[in-house]
Amino acid sequence: MAKTSIIGLDIGSTAVCAAELTFGSGGPGKSTPTLTALANVPLPMGALQDGEVVDPNTVAQAIRTAWDQGKFSSKDVVVGVGNQRVIIREADLPWQPLDGLKKSLPYQAQQLLPTAAGDALLDFVPTGEYHNEDGRFVQGLFVAAIRETVTANVLAAEAAGLRPLMVDLNPFAIQRALGHGELQNHTVAFVDVGARITNVVIAERGQPHFVRVIPHGGQEATDTVAHVMSATAVEAERMKREIGVGYQVSSDRAHIADALLNSTTKLIEAIRSTFVYYSSKNLGAPIDVVTLSGGGALLNGFGQYLSSATRLPVQLGNPFENVKVAKGVNLGSLQGSEQTATVALGLAYGVAQ
Ligand SMILES: Nc1ncnc2c1ncn2[C@@H]1O[C@H](COP(=O)(O)OP(=O)(O)OP(=O)(O)O)[C@@H](O)[C@H]1O
Ligand SMILES: [Mg+2]
Repeated sequence: MAKTSIIGLDIGSTAVCAAELTFGSGGPGKSTPTLTALANVPLPMGALQDGEVVDPNTVAQAIRTAWDQGKFSSKDVVVGVGNQRVIIREADLPWQPLDGLKKSLPYQAQQLLPTAAGDALLDFVPTGEYHNEDGRFVQGLFVAAIRETVTANVLAAEAAGLRPLMVDLNPFAIQRALGHGELQNHTVAFVDVGARITNVVIAERGQPHFVRVIPHGGQEATDTVAHVMSATAVEAERMKREIGVGYQVSSDRAHIADALLNSTTKLIEAIRSTFVYYSSKNLGAPIDVVTLSGGGALLNGFGQYLSSATRLPVQLGNPFENVKVAKGVNLGSLQGSEQTATVALGLAYGVAQ
């Protein structure tokens, strides 16, 4: 079989990130892929709102710049989606062949969705099955993505001259990018902290069982710091990175450190209560380890704070660890913040893995 390449495109709140993985014979999953192209182009504030594209022209321009920089072999891309309007819920449905099951989703949606889904794209990802006195059931993740939010990403890619081959879910991409080696034998909570969105994916032995999208991220801490310092966003961002959480500061900075801690505590609490919900529902084995990604997880002290709040070991994932990086591919601005490329790389693994 010839070599295959897949390009993943992550449209995040702060940057467009695209990554191309090339797979040897056998395709995805059979050998270590090679990262053959990569680009990361910052987006101005306001291009996305709550993780959704609201200024498609600006986003398209950033994607074009990414293609100018990145030496991608094609314009065919897998586009990621993931925000609060993409709902993923665990569901047990009466067993039937997958075809029939998927046809029944509009009916299931009425039962499973907390509010009317509106015009939603529906899918079901089976994760297991079981028998009990009521019969045979299939377990899985029910996906409802509001069409508008998916279309916005696809249109931005098309406006940049790309051909979206497929839309994939960011949470699944995160697990594919980081869930390698030993992690395949454990129950792992992957937590990707973005600027506005935090994705939580709990996978048991390599299989995602539970997904939540938390509508908070690292930008809120920056906003708070900007507010208490009466500073620009750039200054506040610098200060946030310098101070971190859980470190001693001089008294003139105490009010900034307090504000930063308060904002971060809200996010840590949201993550912790997501874990508590997962445990209380007995959806699977207890979490063994937390793997962090996304730029928000790079905040100094964040990992330690999450570890003490959840009493779980927390490690930083690195999406480049499981790929070979081709000569000539420059990590550029991603050097030192590799975690922000997690979704793009995960999308490039494709769904066939
Ligand atoms: N070294 C760092 N220390 C602290 N915070 C950082 C660091 N690097 C990046 N961040 C924060 O990470 C966030 C951006 O992360 P990321 O690139 O993963 O988000 P995004 O994908 O653009 O956004 P989203 O996923 O929410 O749409 C910003 O809030 C930024 O302040
Ligand atoms: Mg992101």
